[in-house]
Amino acid sequence: MRNSPFMIIGNWKSNKTVVEALSWFEEFNSLWKKEPFDTTKTQVILCPAYIHLKNAADLIKSYELPVELGAQDLSAYPNGTYTGEVSAEMVGDLVKFSIIGHSERRKFLHETEGELALKIKEAISAQISPIYCIQDKSMLIPEDCQIVAYEPVWAISHGDPYQTKPETPENADFAAGEIKKSCNHAVQVIYGGSTTPENVASYVTKPNIDGVLPGGASLKADVFYRLIQNASGN
Ligand code: PGA
Repeated sequence: MRNSPFMIIGNWKSNKTVVEALSWFEEFNSLWKKEPFDTTKTQVILCPAYIHLKNAADLIKSYELPVELGAQDLSAYPNGTYTGEVSAEMVGDLVKFSIIGHSERRKFLHETEGELALKIKEAISAQISPIYCIQDKSMLIPEDCQIVAYEPVWAISHGDPYQTKPETPENADFAAGEIKKSCNHAVQVIYGGSTTPENVASYVTKPNIDGVLPGGASLKADVFYRLIQNASGN
């Protein structure tokens, strides 16, 4: 029995104009208002791009949606002369969480472990909980990270989670258990890779899996709504 709510961390990645993000919230809100359900067993965290965070925060508040916000990344540097960077302090009043070390950033932006360690330090100093992504269960988990996202690269979709095979719930559960055993401190382990409304329930029932991190399945409001509904046991 898990003693904290099952986390659903939606990652919009590099998608949506401001107008598209607003329509997503309008659609999500109308689905939610038409058919709200019990979300006491889930915690929903949406991670849109920085440009959407302020609007998203305002809409979540005015629509009273059961959604919290996270960032997809943070600067390794504090406030200052770092053109183009967004520091932890800058987003600290909008988010309580930030993804750090996603495989796409490690691959395309060549993020190194040293840089990720600085990002974690910045996040913690702004009271932001890092959601630290690892791609292999043997990867080292920094001490300050209490939320770990296990995301085998081959299971991550290229946008459409129905076109990629996810890791099986059994294997993901086994990996999550190994990660917990290998850590000297308590961690919640989230599984990410081609999760959908149809397969999410099979991860919820696994004792070592504390949440999921849908990318493609968070992009459409109705798909994300159904995923949350199915994970909440409704
Ligand atoms: P996916 O993305 O659900 O589209 O596979 C998951 C992720 O990259 O976090």
